[in-house]
Amino acid sequence: MANFFPRWTNWIPLKVIVCVIVIGCGLTAATWYYATPKYTKVGYQPIQPVPFPHDIHVTQLGMDCRYCHSFVEVAAQSNVPNTATCMNCHTQVAKDNPKLQPVQESWKSGEPVEWVWLYRTVDYVYYNHSAHVNRGISCFTCHGPVNHMSVVHIAQPHSMAWCLDCHRHPENYLRPDDQVFNLDWKPEDVKPAEFVAKYGQPGDTREDFAKKKQLTQAEIGQTLKQRWKITPPTNCQGCHR
Ligand code: HEC
Ligand code: HEC
Ligand code: HEC
Ligand code: HEC
Ligand code: HEC
Repeated sequence: MANFFPRWTNWIPLKVIVCVIVIGCGLTAATWYYATPKYTKVGYQPIQPVPFPHDIHVTQLGMDCRYCHSFVEVAAQSNVPNTATCMNCHTQVAKDNPKLQPVQESWKSGEPVEWVWLYRTVDYVYYNHSAHVNRGISCFTCHGPVNHMSVVHIAQPHSMAWCLDCHRHPENYLRPDDQVFNLDWKPEDVKPAEFVAKYGQPGDTREDFAKKKQLTQAEIGQTLKQRWKITPPTNCQGCHR
């Protein structure tokens, strides 16, 4: 029997399904985007069992983030320090400070201090710290000036649009790899001649960067992006695996 419908019509049901899914996702995304309270979470500062002052420990005492968040360079998840890390100092320092009482109790009982989480990505999003901090993205860009916070609050929305904004234009944020943990770094701190000696400059620029007085974020970012071949994923599977 001759085929009554032309061959391409076999694909119609599939096309309809695909369209419905795409439109459905778009609507869901839009509703989520505009309607969920996540987008008002910036500024969120829960009451912690101990009001842990990052400003005292990082800026005044000069501690590195990795002293406490020791997995941030090597693992997907960063970590919050255990009580033993605090007790390296606090068996001696500020022993009787009432703010440290929950830490003292945890030390005696062996139960961890119950810190309240701030940043949490949802299950269907894949995120990895080491993939970012080893590629010239600073804690500052995603968590704000934690080194000046007396108690941490949420500084960036961590929404999909926010992730994508950087994945499309990483040059706006890339910095030299030895400045990732320096949250006070500014593009003006870069010495052009030293920078060019270490990282070069983009092949398609005529101007000699080494002779400039100052480099802009765009110039620094473009150089590092080419040098390190930075290509963050912008396809859906990149983050939704
Ligand atoms: C002496 C230990 C210590 C050092 C050093 C330290 N932190 Fe923390 N950090 C903590 C503790 C404890 C918490 C959990 C309590 C809280 O959220 O206030 C925390 C929480 C955080 C959080 C919030 C995590 C979440 O989602 O709940 C961020 C972000 C953070 N730290 C970033 C940094 C950065 C960036 C640096 C370096 C500039 C740094 N920390 C240095 C101990 C430390
Ligand atoms: C490298 C040593 C060191 C480590 C590790 C350390 N601290 Fe401290 N901490 C200090 C010093 C020094 C002070 C300042 C003491 C003072 O001013 O009397 C301090 C002060 C504090 C204070 C009092 C702040 C205030 O306003 O009175 C708290 C609370 C505190 N630390 C919590 C923690 C917690 C929680 C940890 C573990 C996550 C930790 N510290 C790890 C050295 C350390
Ligand atoms: C590209 C953005 C980005 C950068 C850069 C970044 N973070 Fe995060 N951070 C996140 C996201 C997203 C989460 C939530 C992760 C999750 O839910 O698994 C998070 C969570 C955390 C947490 C809570 C524990 C965890 O892993 O869930 C800590 C602590 C933390 N970050 C510390 C740091 C420190 C310290 C640095 C710098 C060395 C840093 N982050 C750099 C995006 C970033
Ligand atoms: C400020 C810039 C910036 C932000 C914000 C950012 N990223 Fe990235 N992302 C990068 C860079 C740079 C890379 C590394 C690309 C490379 O290595 O070529 C990367 C790589 C990745 C990768 C691939 C790494 C791997 O292990 O395969 C994933 C997945 C990813 N990012 C997810 C996220 C998610 C999810 C968010 C938001 C919660 C986010 N990123 C926010 C800059 C950023
Ligand atoms: C750079 C990482 C990244 C890429 C690429 C990405 N997403 Fe997402 N997506 C996220 C994050 C992070 C969230 C969670 C946002 C939140 O919790 O506020 C999310 C959430 C979603 C949601 C839930 C609705 C929402 O906005 O919370 C949908 C639907 C979605 N993504 C679809 C897609 C589709 C379709 C693509 C491909 C066009 C895509 N995503 C590409 C990071 C990404």
